[in-house]
Amino acid sequence: MALLRAAFSSLLFSSALALVQDLDDTFKDSRMEDVWLVDFYAPWCGYCKKLEPIWQEVGAELTRSGSPVRVGKMDGTAYSGVASEFGVRGYPTIKLLKGELAYNYKGPRTKDDIIEFANRVAGPAVRSLPSRQMFEHVLKRHSVLFLYVGGESPLKEKYTEVASELIVCTYFFSASEDVLPESVALHELPSVVVFKDGTYFTYDEYEDGSLSSWVNRERFQSYLPIDGFTLYELGETGKLVAIAVTDERDPTERSSRLKGLIQRVATEHRDQFNRDFQFGHMEGNDYINSLIMGEVSVPSIIILNTSNEQYFVPAEPVEDLEQLLRFFSSVLDGSAPAFGGDGFFQRIKRVAYDARSTIMSVFRSSPLLGCFLFGLPLGVISLMCYGICMAESDDDTELMKRDGFTDEEEEEGEEEEQQRLTAGAEGEEDEDAEKIEQKSPTEKKVD
Ligand SMILES: *[C@@H]1O[C@H](CO)[C@@H](O)[C@H](O)[C@H]1NC(C)=O
Repeated sequence: MALLRAAFSSLLFSSALALVQDLDDTFKDSRMEDVWLVDFYAPWCGYCKKLEPIWQEVGAELTRSGSPVRVGKMDGTAYSGVASEFGVRGYPTIKLLKGELAYNYKGPRTKDDIIEFANRVAGPAVRSLPSRQMFEHVLKRHSVLFLYVGGESPLKEKYTEVASELIVCTYFFSASEDVLPESVALHELPSVVVFKDGTYFTYDEYEDGSLSSWVNRERFQSYLPIDGFTLYELGETGKLVAIAVTDERDPTERSSRLKGLIQRVATEHRDQFNRDFQFGHMEGNDYINSLIMGEVSVPSIIILNTSNEQYFVPAEPVEDLEQLLRFFSSVLDGSAPAFGGDGFFQRIKRVAYDARSTIMSVFRSSPLLGCFLFGLPLGVISLMCYGICMAESDDDTELMKRDGFTDEEEEEGEEEEQQRLTAGAEGEEDEDAEKIEQKSPTEKKVD
């Protein structure tokens, strides 16, 4: 019986191994025939350990669903040559490798998100929609849908080129005109259209610039609920992010009024502001507060520039649409004052702020540990100071008493003692710095 169980578990074990392959440096030469989804990890990295069980599930699921994508993992520290060739700069790094192309995965590290990514990127860059039913089905499932309409053309070539690069962000479809419902009236063919926000917009080469920059700007709904993760995704469009900071339980209904106002700017004043702004609301002010190292009131409006970490707030609370529109225009024409930023002093402030919030959070979650962690170095430092002071006063008296010692010998001994003590104290401090670094919000952002 025991034997049977052992045999069974070893069978399970070996099949689990087959689902996620451990890769070594021979991988580079043998990978070309297949599409590979690879987790580059480091044995010491905590996020990698958290990803490990999810990665096994990803491997199992992709195999089960008959996906052609093969799943592997590589210790980037053991095969650093291969890792750096694939441009791995941190751990864990998830990449989908498809022939000459390598796609980075930047989304949340959950099984479903990773599998969706793998299926999207491994498939064709442009998926064709053969029928009206198919179009309607896909339209229901995608809040933002890019569609090329027409036959072969230079625009289609361009579209395919853009799609094969930006497939990491979104899906791309193509169809002939008769697939579209009558409500969609295109001025000319071929066209590239995006369906979103309950309507559609057509790409115009003269007004919208390059197709890839247009796709990058249009790949989100104009108004979205925003959290820490989506904020940075939205920021990658190069737009400013305008947020209503709200409280669901706000009894005065000012929260929902502000949400409504921002939504109206997004839809009714799209022509004026869509190019430069992404709109949304965020529940609660915790995230924003730690981002700007200050305090925004709830509810309120804030505009963030995620590329230089500057932000804008209206001079007085926004009451109506006119006021809000004036605020948006003042940010665009540069007359609104910018706060924050990523300058030298802001960075110093960030380090101090992060250190403070780490200490606070340690104390809040376990005061005893906090006392130990931060009390111990403090204790050592004060003991050290005490020791130095006492040593000096001892000196004076002892020098007077004894004459067998020379001054030099005394000083040398003292210096050594001091060095030993400082070295000890420095060791302690370094340890703390490491802990602080591990918890800093910049890492959370990356995560
Ligand atoms: C946002 O930051 C970028 C990068 O520093 C800058 O070029 C741009 O002008 C900023 N936008 C506004 C409205 O300040």
